Amino acid sequence: MPVRKIVTFGHPVLHRAALTIRTIDQEIVDLARDMVLTMHAAPGIGLAAPQVAAGKRLITVDLSVGEKAEELIILINPEFLGTDGEAVSEEGCLSVPGVHEDVRRPGQVAIKGIDLEGNERVIEAEGLLARVFCHELDHLEGRLFIEHLSPLKKTLIKKRLKKTLENDGRE
Ligand code: NI
Repeated sequence: MPVRKIVTFGHPVLHRAALTIRTIDQEIVDLARDMVLTMHAAPGIGLAAPQVAAGKRLITVDLSVGEKAEELIILINPEFLGTDGEAVSEEGCLSVPGVHEDVRRPGQVAIKGIDLEGNERVIEAEGLLARVFCHELDHLEGRLFIEHLSPLKKTLIKKRLKKTLENDGRE
C-alpha cells in the first residue's frame, strides 16, 4: 500500500506519543517509502508516522514536494539538540483539514536523528524548515499545531472540526 490514508483529528494515534524505533527493519523501510509517497501525493512538505496511523517516531520532510531529491529528509527518532529565537507564521496540517492559523515557534532549531542506513544525522534549520521540524516533532508527542493556539481559539476550532469530520463520516 504505497500511498496510505492520512488520519485526521480525533484519531487516537494522533493524540498519543509515538514509540521509539529500535530496529530499522523492512517494516520501517516500507513505512518511510510510503510516507514519502503519501506526503508528495497530498501534497505536503512534512509528514509524521502517526498521520498514517503508525505510532512510530519517524518523519519525512521535503520543502520541494518531490521537485529536488536532495531536499528529501527521512529521520528516525528525531529529537531537538537546541532551539533559538522566535517566529510566528501560518501553519496547516494534513490531519487538521481546513484550518490555518498563526503559530509561534522557535526561529532556529538543531535536531538529530537517524537515517534509513542507520547513520546519525544532525541538521540545523531556520525559517520554514525549522517550523516543519517543530510541527513534525510535535506530532511524535501526540501534539497537533492547534494545541499552540489560545484556549478560546482551540475550543472553537475543535468544535468545528468535530462537526466537519462527523459529517464527512456520514457521507
Ligand atoms: Ni501536521
